[in-house]
Amino acid sequence: MNDKTAWSNFWLGLGGAVAAVVGVGIVSTFEWPDTESVQVGHRGNGMVQVYNQVALANQVAETSFPEPEPVDEPFGLSAGEIYENVQVLGHLDVADFNRLMLAITSWVAPEEQGCLYCHAEGEALSSDSLYTKRVARRMIQMTMTVNQEWDQHVAPTGVTCYTCHRGQPVPDNIWFLDPGQWRGAGIVGNPAGQNMPATAAGLSSLPADPFVAFLQDDPANIRVAGLEALPDGNRTSIKQTEWTYSLMMHMSTSLGVNCTFCHNSRSFSDWEQSPAQRTTAWHGLRMVSSLNETYLDPLQGEYPAIRLGPTGDAPKANCATCHQGAYKPLYGYSMIGDYPSLAAYGPPELQDPPMPMPAADGTGGEASPATSQ
Ligand code: HEC
Ligand code: HEC
Ligand code: HEC
Ligand code: HEC
Repeated sequence: MNDKTAWSNFWLGLGGAVAAVVGVGIVSTFEWPDTESVQVGHRGNGMVQVYNQVALANQVAETSFPEPEPVDEPFGLSAGEIYENVQVLGHLDVADFNRLMLAITSWVAPEEQGCLYCHAEGEALSSDSLYTKRVARRMIQMTMTVNQEWDQHVAPTGVTCYTCHRGQPVPDNIWFLDPGQWRGAGIVGNPAGQNMPATAAGLSSLPADPFVAFLQDDPANIRVAGLEALPDGNRTSIKQTEWTYSLMMHMSTSLGVNCTFCHNSRSFSDWEQSPAQRTTAWHGLRMVSSLNETYLDPLQGEYPAIRLGPTGDAPKANCATCHQGAYKPLYGYSMIGDYPSLAAYGPPELQDPPMPMPAADGTGGEASPATSQ
């Protein structure tokens, strides 16, 4: 064998190896059939959701749907009559109250800690010494608010602690303020949040963080399309439109759907041509901003430092916190019917919305500094 054949064999071998690696790479990243198309709009306008049945079946199989706790006979006395420090659930019958404590434990607390996750060992159950208990009290109020005030978004499925928590203290999908762009302005200029692939924006090159602008207090305007045929008076820029698209990517990926779940793509802005889901989403956007502003952000002072974001802000919610990849959280599996105590506020003397944060010493009523700023 002369040098020439050795070389060409070498190149052939190398070429073959590269082709094999690339081939395996390509084939294994293909989406496997079977896909199913579900029509959501009128015939012929392309409003179709394409689902990969295998992926969907796996996603459903990975979701657990908890059985309701057994219901006990009413005890005949309210929690407020028996217990010492019940500021939001005092109106419940003692049997209901205890059943809810059991459920909350299974929905939120780590298994090895159980009740002790919120009730300090060796202290009375009425003690508020653990931050988890104080946060949980506010969470109970938030859950009641969602079910009572935001029924245009969540009814009839409703929301319990499990919708977000799924058996763990920190929900899978939370967000914090971004500490700033990791790439300085420098020679390439300000990237405006772009080209930093983020799961929030569906790994696209759109702005990486649509939450600050749209899912907090005083949300920015999402609608960017002009209402006139000619550009007249609409000063919205391409840059603003990119933020809108980034948010839309987050909404689509959170729900596991395409844009056409909510829009007829021949006119994204026209409500007449949009399915009802877009109206539900409109309420959802307002709900999420309001929950972050009223409940989640003000809890900042309660959490230990380890739970706070890089800039010291409290963990916040977005569409994925509840939806977790499903068009309805838990694919529409409703738990609220089994827990009517979380479906609505108690009597006004216990909760007169917007509910002030109960004080840590258990006296209740006064707004804490965290909420009154
Ligand atoms: C995720 C937090 C959390 C867990 C876990 C939890 N609790 Fe509670 N518990 C609370 C909150 C919040 C209150 C106060 C409710 C209120 O203010 O209306 C409370 C109050 C109580 C009270 C009333 C005490 C008093 O005298 O004021 C009892 C009794 C109680 N819990 C029992 C339990 C038991 C038993 C378990 C375990 C099965 C448990 N809790 C698990 C959050 C929790
Ligand atoms: C809309 C979603 C949502 C719902 C519904 C919800 N939570 Fe939360 N919860 C959160 C978020 C977000 C956090 C912040 C996560 C963190 O602590 O890092 C949180 C934190 C907590 C914490 C503190 C966890 C820790 O270790 O820091 C407790 C306790 C808690 N929730 C209890 C409850 C209870 C009890 C309910 C039902 C009455 C409930 N939550 C309902 C979103 C939710
Ligand atoms: C879950 C429903 C939902 C999904 C999915 C969705 N959108 Fe939207 N979209 C909305 C809602 C609601 C608004 C209006 C928001 C408002 O007015 O606050 C909107 C507004 C828009 C606008 C601005 C329209 C105007 O009047 O200026 C554009 C553009 C848009 N969406 C594009 C998209 C694209 C592209 C996708 C897919 C990547 C998408 N949307 C996915 C619900 C959705
Ligand atoms: C607090 C939990 C929660 C959050 C956060 C949340 N949703 Fe929902 N959403 C629900 C529930 C529960 C339903 C089911 C309502 C029903 O039974 O029809 C729902 C339903 C929807 C639907 C209707 C689906 C259908 O098939 O009819 C859309 C669209 C939607 N949500 C969009 C959003 C968007 C967009 C966001 C973020 C801006 C969001 N949701 C945030 C709880 C939530």
